[in-house]
Amino acid sequence: MNRKALQKLSYGVYLVTTANGNQFAGCVANSAMQITSAPAQIAVSLNHDNATHDAVVQAGKFAVAVLPTDVEPSLIGGFGYRSGRDINKFAEILYQMQDGMPVPRVAMAWITCEVVQTMDAGTHTIFLGKVLDCDVTREDAFPMTYQYYHTVIKGQSPKNAPTYVPPEENA
Ligand SMILES: Cc1cc2nc3c(=O)[nH]c(=O)nc-3n(C[C@H](O)[C@H](O)[C@H](O)COP(=O)(O)O)c2cc1C
Repeated sequence: MNRKALQKLSYGVYLVTTANGNQFAGCVANSAMQITSAPAQIAVSLNHDNATHDAVVQAGKFAVAVLPTDVEPSLIGGFGYRSGRDINKFAEILYQMQDGMPVPRVAMAWITCEVVQTMDAGTHTIFLGKVLDCDVTREDAFPMTYQYYHTVIKGQSPKNAPTYVPPEENA
């Protein structure tokens, strides 16, 4: 099995956020995809260890923010490598509330979802969400792809990302 084939799958780079009242949570996720058209449904895969995972379970809803290529890489660092258990990720960013969830202003598009099904995938839970609302906030921007993140920004994927590649496999 040549596991490098898995690295040929294409993704985007998103922020998945949620809220339980005033308690916000959010992390970077590449694993967002549209599953059906009518009704529109989106799936995301979140690691059991992520604070955002537990927050989505509790809230029963999540928002997906589409990041543009010109986003500050430090935002991806803050949301993708640190945990909301240790820092307040929303303290220094601008956001707007959509369906009770914080959507970072840097998003070029956003989608809010109500969780309609979950599937336990071992290390991760797959959340299937029915789209509640969505909008495009910047027409001039390009959505960041996973390939752009890796090749242009030279970003890595941490252990909790479903696409994590152990260093020995990258040799
Ligand atoms: C490019 C990138 C993609 C990621 N994709 C996912 C993902 O799809 N699912 C996931 O659970 N974590 C993913 N992560 C890891 C989480 O963002 C990371 O574990 C984060 O620190 C969790 O924060 P939290 O504990 O506040 O939820 C990704 C990280 C990066 C940098």
